[in-house]
Amino acid sequence: MKNRKIAFLLLLAASCNLTTQSKKDQPVYKDAGRSVEERVNDLVSRMTLDEKVMQLNQYTLGRSDNANNMADPVNDIPAEIGSLIYFSSNPDLRNRLQKRAMEETRLGIPVIFGYDVIHGYRTVYPISLAQACSWNPELVKQACAVAAQEARMSGVDWTFSPMIDVARDGRWGRVSEGYGEDPYTNAVFGVASVKGYQGNDLSNGKNIAACLKHYIGYGASEAGRDYVYTEISRQTLWDTYMLPYEESVKAGVATLMSSFNDISGTPSTANHYILTGILKQRWGHDGFVVSDWGAIAQLCPQGVAKDNKEAAQKAFNAGVDMDMMNRAYDNHLGDLVKEGKVSEELLNDAVRRVLRVKFRLGLFENPYTPQSTEKERFLLPQSLKIAEQLSEESIVLLKNENNTLPLKNASKIAVIGPMAKSQWHLLGSWRAQGKAEDAITVYDGLEREFKDKAKLFYAAGCDFDGEDKSGFKKAVTIAKEADAVVVCLGEKAQWSGENASRSTIALPQIQEELVIELKKLGKPVILLLSSGRPLELNRLEKLSNAILQIWQPGIAGGNPVAGIVAGRINPSGKLSITFPYSTGQIPVYYNHRQSARPHQGKYQDIPSAPLYEFAHGLSYTTFEYGDLKQSALKVGKGDKLSIEVPVTNTGNIDGMETVHWFICDPVSSISRPVKELKHFEKQMIKVGETKIFRFEIDLEKVFGFVDGEGNRFLELGDYYIIVKDKKVKVEVLTETF
Ligand code: NOJ
Repeated sequence: MKNRKIAFLLLLAASCNLTTQSKKDQPVYKDAGRSVEERVNDLVSRMTLDEKVMQLNQYTLGRSDNANNMADPVNDIPAEIGSLIYFSSNPDLRNRLQKRAMEETRLGIPVIFGYDVIHGYRTVYPISLAQACSWNPELVKQACAVAAQEARMSGVDWTFSPMIDVARDGRWGRVSEGYGEDPYTNAVFGVASVKGYQGNDLSNGKNIAACLKHYIGYGASEAGRDYVYTEISRQTLWDTYMLPYEESVKAGVATLMSSFNDISGTPSTANHYILTGILKQRWGHDGFVVSDWGAIAQLCPQGVAKDNKEAAQKAFNAGVDMDMMNRAYDNHLGDLVKEGKVSEELLNDAVRRVLRVKFRLGLFENPYTPQSTEKERFLLPQSLKIAEQLSEESIVLLKNENNTLPLKNASKIAVIGPMAKSQWHLLGSWRAQGKAEDAITVYDGLEREFKDKAKLFYAAGCDFDGEDKSGFKKAVTIAKEADAVVVCLGEKAQWSGENASRSTIALPQIQEELVIELKKLGKPVILLLSSGRPLELNRLEKLSNAILQIWQPGIAGGNPVAGIVAGRINPSGKLSITFPYSTGQIPVYYNHRQSARPHQGKYQDIPSAPLYEFAHGLSYTTFEYGDLKQSALKVGKGDKLSIEVPVTNTGNIDGMETVHWFICDPVSSISRPVKELKHFEKQMIKVGETKIFRFEIDLEKVFGFVDGEGNRFLELGDYYIIVKDKKVKVEVLTETF
């Protein structure tokens, strides 16, 4: 017994010795107990030039069915590759490739797998433009966390999202991917998404790294055409486009993507001022910048580089750390360093940035994605609930003449239109691994909702476009029999998103003509519109009694829509983007600068006001706003100020109300917008109840503004705080008051 004990102790001592020994021999970068910076520095010091260069390249793995991103399948991926866009949802393929990176390379550096997880991975929720109409950033954060969990468990470490490009031209297909026309709104939802995707710990197997895009100004693409030039002054760059990026960088985003556009002649992808001067130096971002797909090579057609090598040099020296599908860095960066055109110091800095994110993701400790069944990771009950609630809150009731909605007394309902039975188009563009069969059609939603209450009749009426009116007859026949006509119109999913601009934002004529025919019957006409952009509705508006903008709601699809039509749900969405009267008004947005002659300069042929303004959205109840109460009439710099408004639900049904707080600075050294959103809050208000909405004002942040170099300053003078049609004045006096 004694001998056995001694033998055991000897064995233990030997193994302890071995562990210390192996720990001592283990390189610092493999030691999870060391800080990220120690590990990064150690690893970089061991890398050869070629190994460094390979970390800065991204190829693809798996099959891409995105027409804009088609590339030859990568058959022979070097095991040293830094990153891959991962098109498969099975971790198997990823793990096989990762095994090569870990076991067949000298240093065993894991690959980071990225993917466009834009509005959900498999549980597709509404497009971002719609999400913003919910004015519920907490819910958006939860939805992004769902997307992150599904993606990470499928082998994706990094999403190319959120897109926080302020966009004011509905013709641009990518307006669907951002949070609308307002800088503050994009900032709030950008931060919410980053927090949702990344959580507090990137290495917990459920979170993913986020990527702000497209840095910067892409939303200003001229005439809504994609991939083109933008004309942005420094003042406008700071006033309109920077805020969402600044706030989301502060929130800790891991990465950014450079944009395709040039900014007044200098492409973002070769723009030292924005990439290095602002992002890395002024804001101190320590993650990395990836180019957009092919954006480095495109410096040639953009006319600032003569060949791929010069493009690589310009992009890299400007601050683009990783090359997404250009074959510019892998082919040329090594030579550029040897020739002294790119410094080794900059090369090391870029490699450090990429490695930092990999360490933070825990990829060195857990390079492989654990196997799980699809049931374990996709479409979980809690995930579906979040997607459905987000869709519910993002739907906007644009018009409701004489309380046409909800449909309480109809016993026969005609459901007509090309969108009524579509699953695919409800998902919108960039649906990641979303499947059409997961989406509930509007028709199915209505059928479920009105079961035992009303009989439904269906006719497509027409297609989304074209000239075939042969379906009108059946549509009119069923509408004649019905008490109400629900017309489901809109855009095909592929009409918005990347490379999907339209010259008009009206619906195709065939859809409008169908409504003209139905209107003749004298029945209440209810339009349900699904689109990836604001629409030109002036003709349809006159033909309809109620309009519900349902956007591209994702897989919850018809359920929330039907709930609103039936009155189970009280709509609460408000527009995150202006609906112009007609396409000719574009660009039209609420926060334009003050005009020299506000009373003149009107259009001769159309009204000058938009059809539906930013923040417009109706409810089934009525809300009465009391007077604004301010904590002070005069404040000094550094003082605190708060404003309150009581809101009472004076109707017959509980409802959620969002209060938007705008400010206006009528006289300042640089002409300011007529009003600017600075805060919003959404609360549930029960029938008869009054809720107080409060805005705590940080004077510098709220009344201050930036100059063309991004310096924030606060001027003395009068400011207005505006809520709906109420406003109060506050005077900012000297330094202290
Ligand atoms: C091009 C798009 O502009 C960008 O948004 C996307 O993330 C990349 N392709 C990768 O698919």
